[in-house]
Amino acid sequence: MRTLALCLILVMGTSEALDCQFVDGSLKQVDAGLGLVFGVNDAGAVFMRFGNKWVPMEGNLKHVTVGPAGLWGVSEDFHIFKMVAGKWERVEGLLKQIDAGGDQLIGGVNNESAGFCLNQQGAALALGGGAHVPWVSIADDLVYYSCGPQSCWGVTSKNAVLVRKEVTPNKCQGLGWEPVPDSPMVLVEVGSDGIVFGINGTGEVFRRAGITESNPSGSQWTHQYVCGNMRHATYDLGVLWLITMDQKIVSCIL
Ligand SMILES: *[C@@H]1O[C@H](CO)[C@@H](O)[C@H](O)[C@H]1NC(C)=O
Ligand SMILES: *[C@@H]1O[C@H](CO)[C@@H](O)[C@H](O)[C@H]1NC(C)=O
Repeated sequence: MRTLALCLILVMGTSEALDCQFVDGSLKQVDAGLGLVFGVNDAGAVFMRFGNKWVPMEGNLKHVTVGPAGLWGVSEDFHIFKMVAGKWERVEGLLKQIDAGGDQLIGGVNNESAGFCLNQQGAALALGGGAHVPWVSIADDLVYYSCGPQSCWGVTSKNAVLVRKEVTPNKCQGLGWEPVPDSPMVLVEVGSDGIVFGINGTGEVFRRAGITESNPSGSQWTHQYVCGNMRHATYDLGVLWLITMDQKIVSCIL
């Protein structure tokens, strides 16, 4: 592993420097949850992190996600899959991006920027076989959606950030949107403990400060100084995983 220590020289006053290292391999997207880390590469191959290796798995996916509702993914043609008894089962619906980070619920967006969520029961009973899946419509301008234990964060096509508060396992749509002003991001990811990271249009990484139960949208973005521009981020159990624009993998200890 190469460290990114050289970059620390350039840290500015307003940035926090992270302790980051390159990890072997090349991925396009990565998702961490429940102590597990999954990723997909440019060709759609799916990998699970085990020890110091990326172990190849069945399937061909564009986006993979792991969390309390299980292991889910979407394919290039927007089909939705859930891992059931060691096999990817096709679940009703079409999504472009999917997130299993919420409290046993699923969230996601489709290729026409519409947002959806699936309550705990619907997520648990989605076993494939053509069964109906009760997706709940939540928004009509959402290009990225990520859920944590209490709230979900979304990004619109204009890079505006929104928080959906008081999301619960039986009311995945929560209480409606609260805008997060003046913070254009292209991606926002909520960790399993509610820590929120964002990536802006030039690939800079930010962490949302001041999130509390009474103020789920927090107070400000703190720039996280990491070497290079990032296309993806995911956080779980003290480790922030990043994917660079050229698909290199970086892990940072918080
Ligand atoms: C979104 O996907 C559906 C199903 O594949 C397709 O019919 C539709 O044309 C797509 N829309 C856009 C904007 O690409
Ligand atoms: C991303 O953040 C960096 C650091 O704050 C800033 O210099 C840059 O202009 C931002 N890019 C966009 C597209 O907002």
